[in-house]
Amino acid sequence: MRVTVFGASGLLGQELVQELSIEQDQLTALSSKDADLRDPARVRDVIRDSPPDWILLSAAYTDVDGCESNRDRAFAVNCEGAVNVAQAAREAGSRLMFLSTDYVFDGSKRSPYQTSDARNPTSVYGESKARAEERLLDILPEVCIARTSWLFGHAGKCFPATILKLASTRPEISVVNDQRGSPTFTRDLASALVQLCRASASGIVHVTNSGDCTWYEFATEIVRVSGMTTAVKPVTTAEFPRPARRPAYSVLSPDSLRAYNVHMPEWQDALRRYLEGQAGAAR
Ligand SMILES: NC(=O)c1ccc[n+]([C@@H]2O[C@H](COP(=O)([O-])OP(=O)(O)OC[C@H]3O[C@@H](n4cnc5c(N)ncnc54)[C@H](OP(=O)(O)O)[C@@H]3O)[C@@H](O)[C@H]2O)c1
Repeated sequence: MRVTVFGASGLLGQELVQELSIEQDQLTALSSKDADLRDPARVRDVIRDSPPDWILLSAAYTDVDGCESNRDRAFAVNCEGAVNVAQAAREAGSRLMFLSTDYVFDGSKRSPYQTSDARNPTSVYGESKARAEERLLDILPEVCIARTSWLFGHAGKCFPATILKLASTRPEISVVNDQRGSPTFTRDLASALVQLCRASASGIVHVTNSGDCTWYEFATEIVRVSGMTTAVKPVTTAEFPRPARRPAYSVLSPDSLRAYNVHMPEWQDALRRYLEGQAGAAR
């Protein structure tokens, strides 16, 4: 399989590159320095130079709070940038997989979101991704939109790394207990995305680790499995206001993924493997 990855230097992108290298796929790995999504001519050139079977569009402006004060940039990268890639994919005859987010939902449900549920984002980041989804489905009806959530992995900053750092320097940490979602290990996600490409997936697919928790429950498990004694205190979102409003509930149903016979491990199992990897790297 010939694959081009946009966002290859990111948290997920680096795992995608690793996964595809193991499988000996023909890979073109691009960061923003190689091709800025906002430059349609450059995007077209890198795809036309070596037309791939699949384009994995992991690149995005992912600073959820930053997007609130940089609406233009959020839409230029996450929506218009994605449109540039979709148009180039159509010209080259390549398939496109677009990474999207649980933040396209408003969080008012109390049962897992289905792919057919209506988008109603509460943040600029979520809006830019929701709009991109709609535009891409128009341009490329065969596009695969992989929505995921709460990423953690070895290739960059993430929630478990932050908790480990805080817990090693403080006797107590406070973590919000009124936002529920599914933590997702980039290694498991990369493997699932490549399986979806091989299965020629199209349409919207929800891809997260199995199970769900609040950020407080996630932090408690990180501290427990690491053998630390730091106290974790549950707090409310209202006590820790952030610029972007996050959904209170954004668990994504695995039904669409199971339709392709792809199964994701429980998040606790993924976390254990992540922590083993961290410990290995520190030795
Ligand atoms: N992180 C999460 O919790 C989460 C949750 C749900 C969905 N997602 C989605 O999953 C995907 C991967 O997220 P991530 O956490 O791996 O992202 P990340 O670590 O922030 O990496 C972002 C990547 O996008 C590239 N990029 C940024 N602006 C660009 C531009 N204008 N043109 C071209 N490339 C650009 C960056 O390149 P440089 O290194 O060169 O800047 C980097 O490779 C994103 O689409 C994100 O929206 C993430």
